[in-house]
Amino acid sequence: MANTNKHRKDNIYIETYGCQMNFSDTEIVSSILINSGFSIINTPEDADAILLNTCSVRDNAERKIHERLIHLKRYKKQNKNLVIGILGCMAERLRKNLLEEERIVDLVAGPDEFRKVPQLIEDARTGTRGIAVKLSRVETYSDIEPLRTSGVFAWLSIMRGCDNFCSYCVVPYTRGRERSRSLESVVQEIEKLRDKGFREITLLGQNVNSYKDKQSGADFADLLAASAKAAPEIRFRYMTSHPVDMSDKLIETMSEYDNICKYIHLPVQSGSNRILDLMLRGYSVEHYLGRIKKIKELMPGCSISTDIIAGFPTETEEDHKATLRVIEEVGYDGAFMFKYSPREHTKAFALEDDVPDKEKVRRLNEIIELQHKIARELNNKEIGRLHTIVAESPSKKNPLEWMGRTDTNKVVVFPSLNGTKEGDLLNVKIHGSTSATLFGEII
Ligand code: 5AD
Ligand code: SF4
Repeated sequence: MANTNKHRKDNIYIETYGCQMNFSDTEIVSSILINSGFSIINTPEDADAILLNTCSVRDNAERKIHERLIHLKRYKKQNKNLVIGILGCMAERLRKNLLEEERIVDLVAGPDEFRKVPQLIEDARTGTRGIAVKLSRVETYSDIEPLRTSGVFAWLSIMRGCDNFCSYCVVPYTRGRERSRSLESVVQEIEKLRDKGFREITLLGQNVNSYKDKQSGADFADLLAASAKAAPEIRFRYMTSHPVDMSDKLIETMSEYDNICKYIHLPVQSGSNRILDLMLRGYSVEHYLGRIKKIKELMPGCSISTDIIAGFPTETEEDHKATLRVIEEVGYDGAFMFKYSPREHTKAFALEDDVPDKEKVRRLNEIIELQHKIARELNNKEIGRLHTIVAESPSKKNPLEWMGRTDTNKVVVFPSLNGTKEGDLLNVKIHGSTSATLFGEII
């Protein structure tokens, strides 16, 4: 039978940039597109539409997208009907400027408008360039089953947006106000994943600690406990936490369940109280260290990672040294470290970006160097220890080796056995390490 609506068979290729929330969003928008009759493909060559799911958190993230668009012009020259779309944070931030300045962009859709993407593609195919960038107070996509490519590891978005308005951060403007899914819908999704044989679920949100189920009043600790109980054979991780909302109850809940991974990402951002105030983070260094103390008391082996910004406006050498001291005192297993990048519309944008770039780079390098030294020392202590890991994928460097993660989120590379496959639960003994990787042997 003739296909009456040929556009319904369009092939869509999506590229994802930025944080885990964006990767999770790509799975949601992919699912929406498939439900509308489109196909998702893995390479751009045969695509009828190329969508970039973008990040705005730092200037260099946006620059990458502008550069990618220059490359994509080539594809558009080869195929005049090719649709190019910008999704996510950059779509929300730049809105119609994107359509005006980037002539090859046909559609722009913000993070709360993914349901409109099928229609926007249809419109673009008939020559109408379109934009949808309304932010919502209720959209959580909780009825959409994300298109997951792994049958073992799942991202599960439990809330969207952020109400914290840290002074440097563009997220509350691009992702909108905070809203949580119901506990019931999250647990139902977990039960489905459990029945399909998934091994690991990461609960995601910009600030998961402020999760609140409006109906039952359940908080994040309640949700985590309900998740762990609903699927005892699944390991649970979560990110990201905010130090203000890192409650005793949450730490206690983590310590009570073996299937809640002993790993916490707790961004400190700076070790100086004056800078934390300017960042509008809402806590002091003392409060932060108190949370770390509690975590280490209740879960001695728990690994901790963080985010740090170097060169925030007015940051002095003394402030910078205070950050180095906190890094030393906590002993982070890992860190994401950034140079401050001014973002339009944020409160900090009004402050003069007065730390010269060269100085930001110097401070950042000092932070990175110290952090690597600490991680190397901590990983060195892992030698001789036993860990249970979930096999994740073949190692990129050597096809005879695989990688997986410990409960504490450390990457372990190990020689595979005949037939090692994604999802295998393996006991490994560690015999070597660097600052970023452990090396082990299956036992
Ligand atoms: N400049 C540099 N780093 C930033 N981050 C967020 N906004 C900025 C900015 N304007 C970092 C923070 C946050 C992480 C996701 O990105 O450390 O925790
Ligand atoms: Fe941005 Fe702060 Fe919200 Fe994190 S908590 S997303 S840094 S505003």
